[in-house]
Amino acid sequence: MSRVRSVTGMPDILPDQISNWHWVEGCATRLLDDYGYRELRLPLVEHTRLFTGAIGESTDVVSKEMYHLEGGKLSLRPEGTAGVVRSVIAHNLAAQHARKIWYSGPMFRHERQQRGRYRQFYQVGAEVFGLPGPDVDAEQILMLARLWKRLGITGLRLEVNSLGTAESRAAYRSTLVEYFADHRQELDEDSERRLEQNPLRILDSKALSMQHLIRNAPTIVDALDAESAEHFAAVQDRVHGAGVDFIVNPRLVRGLDYYSRTVFEWVTDQLGAQGTVCAGGRYDGLVQAQGGKPTPGLGFAMGVDRLVLLLEELNIAPAPKVPDVYLVAVGDAPGKRVLQVAERLRDEVDGLVVETNLGGGSFKAQFKRADKSGARYALVLGESELADGTLTIKSLRDDAEQTTLPIERVGELVRPDPK
Ligand code: HAM
Repeated sequence: MSRVRSVTGMPDILPDQISNWHWVEGCATRLLDDYGYRELRLPLVEHTRLFTGAIGESTDVVSKEMYHLEGGKLSLRPEGTAGVVRSVIAHNLAAQHARKIWYSGPMFRHERQQRGRYRQFYQVGAEVFGLPGPDVDAEQILMLARLWKRLGITGLRLEVNSLGTAESRAAYRSTLVEYFADHRQELDEDSERRLEQNPLRILDSKALSMQHLIRNAPTIVDALDAESAEHFAAVQDRVHGAGVDFIVNPRLVRGLDYYSRTVFEWVTDQLGAQGTVCAGGRYDGLVQAQGGKPTPGLGFAMGVDRLVLLLEELNIAPAPKVPDVYLVAVGDAPGKRVLQVAERLRDEVDGLVVETNLGGGSFKAQFKRADKSGARYALVLGESELADGTLTIKSLRDDAEQTTLPIERVGELVRPDPK
């Protein structure tokens, strides 16, 4: 039988790569917890009409990229916000003053695969419900700035914009349609199609031939209603005041229809075309549009795949986890008792990461494996150690002399690596 391969755009994440993933996801979720967010775990599959209604029928995500099941009634989630909103309404989670939620996991979009763009990709996302003011927009941005610092990522560009209210957006849409219709002969095929369905997305076009036209298009910032303009100014003021740099990009419109007011993206120039590593914004009308009580909301999602690529690109990937000690057993009786000794060692030295040699092998072969494991010490269990309840400790990283200690005293020399 010919070998079955993985599905295009759905790569395996291998054990040798996973430490970067844990680093990103771990830092992100710990920070979210520190800012008062709590995890919500949601199914990967939802009713298709949830996404059609929340994200918008004419968006690329809904019109081209969803994976359908059961004759189209169900879909794999292409993003997390719609499911969170569904759950918040179903369980009345936003009944309190404010509710902060985070989630993480795979999302699915049938996109053209390239570096940084996959069909199964991973997000860590966060949503806040019940707070209309600019403080929370700013806090999310500051929290993300802190996350990049913790991860060691530098050089990200923060772009912000405001899309106003549904009404001011509708007015802007008409102005934009008028403008592009006046220049119809200059539109490329994609933009021509978007003119009818989703004219704001023309501003996102990367086509070189469109750039002049886009540069001269009326901007949404000029069309903002007074309250949205005030809100946007207040967000900028708070972010600026906390020392985080950003640029206002009046052409930032986002590809999902639910946004209102603040939108933002964190972008790197290190990953080519797929440079947005995190994106989000406000969606004050979404909960109500989905059948809930009027509840403002906002959030973001970061692309874990892209952040991992960026860590590699910037050469700041954390060292992979290694055991503290590698337990080697020499001889017949020690080989039979080694697991028991390893358990005893774990009991005695709390937190010690012990890898036990499995599958036997000569003394030399076991030492080779010990070295390869990355452990700092090899612990040798021979006949005499077994008889005396001791272990011989041999440093694998320097020439320190070997020592033999009773198992309960091993911790005096070999301390668990603080993680
Ligand atoms: P999004 O911009 O569609 O927004 O995705 C957020 C992030 O997910 C992107 O900036 C990118 O890093 C990553 N991403 C998206 N598609 C792919 C892909 N095909 N391959 C790899 N990474 C990808 C949302 O999903 C919104 N739900 C964000 C949000 C939450 N807005 C408010 N709350």
